[in-house]
Formats: sequence, C-alpha cells, structure tokens
Amino acid sequence: MNNTISISYGLKALQALSEEVKNKNYSSIFILVDSNTHGYCLERFNEIANIKATGILTMKAGEENKNLSTCEQLWNELSEKGADRNSVLINLGGGVVTDLGGFVACTFKRGIDFYNIPTTLLSMVDASVGGKTGIDLGALKNQIGIIREPQGVIVESGWLQTLPNEELRSGFAEMLKHGLIANPSYWKTLQSLDLLSAETLEDFIQPSIAEKTKVVLEDPNEKGLRKILNFGHTLGHAIESYFLTHPDKPRLLHGEAIAIGMVLEAYLSTVCCALNLGEANEIKTTFDKFYPKQEISLADQKAILELLRHDKKNKAGRINFVLLSAIGTPQIDVEVPQDLFATAFEFYKSA
Ligand SMILES: NC(=O)c1ccc[n+]([C@@H]2O[C@H](COP(=O)([O-])OP(=O)(O)OC[C@H]3O[C@@H](n4cnc5c(N)ncnc54)[C@H](O)[C@@H]3O)[C@@H](O)[C@H]2O)c1
Ligand SMILES: [Zn+2]
Repeated sequence: MNNTISISYGLKALQALSEEVKNKNYSSIFILVDSNTHGYCLERFNEIANIKATGILTMKAGEENKNLSTCEQLWNELSEKGADRNSVLINLGGGVVTDLGGFVACTFKRGIDFYNIPTTLLSMVDASVGGKTGIDLGALKNQIGIIREPQGVIVESGWLQTLPNEELRSGFAEMLKHGLIANPSYWKTLQSLDLLSAETLEDFIQPSIAEKTKVVLEDPNEKGLRKILNFGHTLGHAIESYFLTHPDKPRLLHGEAIAIGMVLEAYLSTVCCALNLGEANEIKTTFDKFYPKQEISLADQKAILELLRHDKKNKAGRINFVLLSAIGTPQIDVEVPQDLFATAFEFYKSA
C-alpha cells in the first residue's frame, strides 16, 4: 500500500479541496452519498467546498447495502455518466460510504482517485483512516476489499451536529479503545468526560486519529502490530452478529457491541495476561457509565460462543485474542481457554 496518509482537518481544509481538485485536472468529479448524507450533508458540502460535480451518486444507507450489487449499480452509473481513468470520486458519508466508495474507486477502470469526507464519528476516527476499503459478502463482513490510501481524508467535525446520539456513542467506543491499547493518559481523559456530545468530542478526534495512524503506518497490512486495533472485537463482532440476527434483541451498533467486547476481554486479560483486577474494574466501570447494560442470557452466551468458533480470524480451530497486560499495553495472538468465557460474562453483568 501507498504509505503516505494525507489527512487534513477543519473547514479550511474542506474549502481547500476545490482548489486541490482543480489543480489535478480531473476529467470529471463524482460525489458519493447515501440516502441520509444526501439530505444531511450534501448541501453543506456544496456550500463549503464549492466543487462543480459532474454527478451525484446516491446509495441506500445501511450496512445491508455495503455489497456487490450496490457496487455494480455505481460502476454502471459512473460508466453511463462518462467517468474515465482520470475521474475522481469524493465519498461523503459514514464508514459504509467510505468503505464501499473506496472499493468502487479502487476497482473502476483499475483504479481512479478518491477522497474521503467522513461524516460520522466512527468513520472519522476509524473507518476512513488506514486505507482499508471493502464490502460484505452475504452475512460475512468486509470479505472483499483492497488496501489503498485515498488521495486525501478531510476531517471536519461540523457533520456531527446532525448525527444521532447512539451513533456518537458508537464512534466513542473506538476512541476509548485507542486509549486502552496505546495511550493511558488519553484513556484517563476520555474516561472522565461527563456528556457525549459533538462539542465535547470534537477535540478528541485528532488525537484518536493520531493513535490509529501510528499503528497503521508501522504495519499497513496487519502482519502484527495492526492487530491491536482488534481489541474488544473478537467477542464484540460475535455479539454484534448475534444481536443483528435475533429480532427479539435490540439494535446494537458496532461500537456498542465492541464496548461489551472490551469489558469481556478486559476480564480475560486478568487471567491470561496478568492485567490487574483494579484496571479491569476501571475499564468495566467506564463502559458502564457510557453504555446501557445489555441482557445476555446463558442461551445467548452459548450462541455467541458458537459464532466465535466460526470467526474467520481463527487459525486451525484456535481463537486468538488481543488482550491487555496493562492499560496501554496490548498483547496480540493470545489463546484463551474456552472455559473462561462464562466468568467473563458474569464479570460484565456484575454491578
Ligand atoms: N475501513 C476501516 O478500517 C473500517 C474501520 C471501522 C469500521 N469500518 C466500517 O464502517 C462501517 C460503519 O461506519 P459508520 O458507523 O459510520 O456507519 P454508517 O456509514 O452506516 O453511518 C451510520 C448512520 O449514520 C448516517 N449518517 C452518516 N453521517 C451522518 C450525519 N452527519 N448526520 C446524520 N446521519 C448521518 C448514515 O446514513 C447511517 O445511517 C462498517 O461497515 C464498518 O465495517 C471500516
Ligand atoms: Zn471497530
């Protein structure tokens, strides 16, 4: 992958985009939005960036549309509207738009330029940084994709004004994760916030991106270090899939699921990685403060563990975790005996 990550911040950067695009002499300019960012973000984008687009492409919002059929629709549209190898695609939206739009751009005519303008907290601090583009294959997430950095990522926190609160909370979980895996003092600062709002969170976007960028630059292709970004995600993904496919369960966003995953994996860290119980309790109390406790029965746990056994990241039937030996000190590829899971769920449930 191209190892330069070009991220710029704020309104000025957004205003400067039109100049940058003009200087590159693109043959045509396309903007990709989803059905929500079409309404919430496009008008503001046009006002601030003032770019004369050749066409606006709109996809249906939601993870369920991050698939090949949406790509096919967009490749067709690009083709019909005369896009060529010298066209550019500007992705204006959350992680679904930046992941899928990036993939569409990387594959159209063997690759055209693209920019990401993330409009959710999660896509600002996570999805649009690190060059991973891609789509889902059936129920399996992010199975098809390419790692390539966009020409630029422009992070501007004004988009958060219209973002629903639970989406803010979802992105915040990834920020807490950045503290837990890399920066104890950043963790302490986030932990002490009282209210999650666009205003309180905007100052922390840049430090979170800095933590992720450091990791990605050192290991762009996830051979080792980059795995630390999966803390909380092994159990978190299984919980996310389980809640998604069980209609009697409430809707759980990605960050809300990995928040539970991080509490469970903090407990596992006390047994398998010598994390001290005081720190594990601190992690649990922090997530309890921001995230409502979910009901997870013994039957739910059994089904979640079944999903975990089928996780694509398992090698030779072994389930590997990223755990912590201390806050800020992650350990990768830790094997966890399965008889510990029940106690981990007890720990999550406890007051
Ligand atoms: N590439 C990576 O490294 C990486 C990392 C983390 C997550 N991801 C991917 O990101 C996706 C999740 O991203 P997400 O949480 O941003 O989801 P999303 O793109 O589905 O956005 C969440 C919701 O908010 C809406 N929305 C977006 N911006 C808005 C705004 N400013 N105001 C009001 N509504 C707005 C969207 O239409 C959607 O309904 C997943 O597909 C995940 O796999 C990728
Ligand atoms: Zn995540």
